[in-house]
Amino acid sequence: MEIRKAFIADVPAIEALISHFADRDRMLHRSLSELYENLRDFFVAEEEGQVLGCCALHLVWADLAEVKSLAVSETAQGKGVGRRLVEACLAEAAQIGIPRVFCLTYEVQFFTRCGFRVVDRSEFPRKVWSECVRCPKFFDCTEVAMSREVPGVVAARSMPRPPEGP
Ligand SMILES: CC(C)(COP(=O)(O)OP(=O)(O)OC[C@H]1O[C@@H](n2cnc3c(N)ncnc32)[C@H](O)[C@@H]1OP(=O)(O)O)[C@@H](O)C(=O)NCCC(=O)NCCS
Repeated sequence: MEIRKAFIADVPAIEALISHFADRDRMLHRSLSELYENLRDFFVAEEEGQVLGCCALHLVWADLAEVKSLAVSETAQGKGVGRRLVEACLAEAAQIGIPRVFCLTYEVQFFTRCGFRVVDRSEFPRKVWSECVRCPKFFDCTEVAMSREVPGVVAARSMPRPPEGP
């Protein structure tokens, strides 16, 4: 099994994977246009030409990125694929120089095993929540905010903050 950056040809498989779990309320849907626009964020796990999993690292600000759209096909779960996808995102964050990543998730135990800890949502700039406005669960959100430091990256002492509001 190989973890690699996604190619254009992977998009239908990524979309199918995410839709499978989104239809079961486990994660948010991603439209094909969102996937094409953000494809450079994505890693996939591939085995014998089949996409078994996907995960994206989305930059938010100078010192923060989100790990999102993580999905591993049911037949491949429990074999470390999810962990390897998250590790690939962490390695890319380190390479870019991002000191901290976060996620919004129902899978608290999985992300705890990946070194994340539960944090208060208010720790994140409002920009993080721009996507939530479009979410049908906006008023009834039970996702948990978690974050972790990126190994090997030291946060700058003074970092500009994102502007508040639209
Ligand atoms: C959550 C998900 C990505 C985990 O992927 P996976 O490949 O099965 O996870 P891994 O095998 O890499 O597990 C890594 C560790 O987390 C633990 N773990 C994984 N899922 C877990 C769960 N639901 N509850 C408790 N522990 C879990 C594993 O036991 C393993 O522990 P270890 O450190 O002792 O080895 C996968 O179950 C999935 O795709 N779920 C549906 C979509 C989803 O919920 N995505 C998350 C959106 S934020």
